[in-house]
Amino acid sequence: MKRILVTGGTGYIGSHTVVELINNDFEVIIIDNLSNSQIDVLDGIEKITGTKPEFYNIDLADKTKTLDLLSQIKSIDAIIHFAAYKAVGESVSEPLKYYQNNLNSLMNIIEAMKTNNINSLVFSSSCTVYGQAKILPVTEQSPIIKADSPYGNTKQIAEEIIYDSIFADENLKGIALRYFNPIGAHESAEIGELPIGSPNNLVPFITQTAIGIREQLQVFGSDYNTTDGTAVRDYIHVVDLAKAHVIAISRLLENINKLDFEVFNLGTGVGNSVLEVINTFEDVTGEKLNYKIVERRAGDIEKVWADTSFANKELGWKTEKSLGEALLSAWVREKKYRGV
Ligand code: WQD
Repeated sequence: MKRILVTGGTGYIGSHTVVELINNDFEVIIIDNLSNSQIDVLDGIEKITGTKPEFYNIDLADKTKTLDLLSQIKSIDAIIHFAAYKAVGESVSEPLKYYQNNLNSLMNIIEAMKTNNINSLVFSSSCTVYGQAKILPVTEQSPIIKADSPYGNTKQIAEEIIYDSIFADENLKGIALRYFNPIGAHESAEIGELPIGSPNNLVPFITQTAIGIREQLQVFGSDYNTTDGTAVRDYIHVVDLAKAHVIAISRLLENINKLDFEVFNLGTGVGNSVLEVINTFEDVTGEKLNYKIVERRAGDIEKVWADTSFANKELGWKTEKSLGEALLSAWVREKKYRGV
């Protein structure tokens, strides 16, 4: 059984990926400092899969602790690296926190890979590297433009660190997966998105408004050059996203990657506006959402969606779940989590 280290494995995308790895007969070890997740996610994973992964709580930005731990954990075959801070707004107000954590964690992981002869790395990247693309949909060859947040910049720099490390060490190989907007939850509702504190992202804000925790959803801007004036994103079900990670790590372990460093866009290929998301949520749940259109949010781009043809062809992967299914799964999870 191949053993996969998943850093950030109790997080939103990490936990869903751990479930899919276990379902595909991988053995999983999680390292997470629980800064944006809770330890009982392990119970959720166990309820779904029957397996509770090996778990370690350390700060991966601490080089000594990271190198020591990875030398103790026996026979890791590959690593999926999710662990990072990801709140765009917070990164603007606290840039050093983001550069120190996100980049030191990655560099420590790569260092530990070299000293422990671990050759394969899948990295959690983001469509934020494209910024506001001039041509849509974005492909993996679309220009990488200067990030408009320190968070987005850490993703761009991280990809360069991985590329340069692989170029310098013939044993290393990696895949960067550029996510669009992950939403939804596992059908069991045992795991899902758990934003600690006020959510930054649209869908948890929708479900928390619908359940009554939030008074009213604010729609940030209706004067964009889009069909209904609200901003457009490519919303991908988190389980579809998780499945792509299993394919990517297998691609490296089976040596079928065509380049030592590969990049794939993971989206649905369809863009939806904020109002379309709200209307779809109301349709699939029967809930009426209290929302108000306000000013644009600083730093938001107008529209982005993925050209998924490269991932579809090379990974033999495409999304299976609709926007409605994703939104309904998010709602079911919200109700279960709140005991409603
Ligand atoms: C989506 C749309 C908002 C909240 C996120 C992550 C980023 C990356 C991509 C992984 C925007 C609007 C939101 C609200 C709103 N993911 N909105 N009211 O900004 O596209 O980026 O996905 O790397 O890390 O942050 O996602 O969900 O915040 O916003 O109107 O209360 O919803 O303006 O148009 P975003 P988001």
